[in-house]
Amino acid sequence: MLSYRHSFHAGNHADVLKHTVESLILTALMEKDKPFLYLDTHAGAGRYQLSSAHAERTGEYLEGIARIWQQPDAPALLKPYLNAVRNLNPGGTLRYYPGSPLIARYLLREEDKLQLTELHPSDYPLLRNEFSKDARARVERGDGYQQLKAKLPPPARRGLILIDPPYEMKSDYQEVVKGIQEGYKRFATGIYALWYPVVMRQQIKHMLRDLEATGIRNILQIELAVRPDSDQRGMTASGMIVINPPWKLKAQMEELLPWLHKTLVPAGTGHYSVTQVVPE
Ligand SMILES: C[S@@+](CC[C@H](N)C(=O)[O-])C[C@H]1O[C@@H](n2cnc3c(N)ncnc32)[C@H](O)[C@@H]1O
Repeated sequence: MLSYRHSFHAGNHADVLKHTVESLILTALMEKDKPFLYLDTHAGAGRYQLSSAHAERTGEYLEGIARIWQQPDAPALLKPYLNAVRNLNPGGTLRYYPGSPLIARYLLREEDKLQLTELHPSDYPLLRNEFSKDARARVERGDGYQQLKAKLPPPARRGLILIDPPYEMKSDYQEVVKGIQEGYKRFATGIYALWYPVVMRQQIKHMLRDLEATGIRNILQIELAVRPDSDQRGMTASGMIVINPPWKLKAQMEELLPWLHKTLVPAGTGHYSVTQVVPE
């Protein structure tokens, strides 16, 4: 089943959280001279046109990136992320939103590598075209979970692995844990960042319990909710689970989340949190 299209959701509050965390991790990796790998298992199309029928239909970006990208009091820590957004919108009008691969493309250095996988027959060619002139990037059509076995460990022995499935199928909640386990067996020092939606809180509790049961150490959970948990349909919150987070990430998110929540959710509903769920 491949009915999910990220173009309906690009730039929403969940993308803001995900891409903020991604940009902070990439910035931390770049503090050392050594090159690294950015592996994106579910990369999407790369670039999203916000005036498209898909984005206009939901208007989700209006309650996401549109609320923060031009705020004069945006914290300095958001600079790498917001600069990536501004780089795609030089005229000052928000026309395009950069997906996770384009955020990485903007931030990475000449010597770093990108390995991007997308399965959808419509999104894959868009992603491939986007990177056709980028010698650092390899774009493949295939199953992202397989890449956690095939592409790890990276030769540079440093890297961020972003795992961002659509959770269209209930099995995704188990697949992500199995995938991380496979990756971790091969590359225990890598940074793994897993995105999750809160639709039914119970699913996230189970997923975290399964992850904790693997014995993997040093797990940070970051969450931003725009509404309280609910039994009704729809996403009320999203989060990032980060294994081996850069040491500054917890403090950085503690600094950023109050501003992000206040700016994204003027009504003040929901919550935010940063929790070390498993110690080092
Ligand atoms: C949430 S979107 C990714 C968004 C992207 N990471 C970003 O932040 O811009 C999930 C993507 O996974 C793709 N997908 C679904 N199943 C997949 C699989 N088994 N392997 C790789 N990609 C898959 C979907 O087509 C969709 O584009």
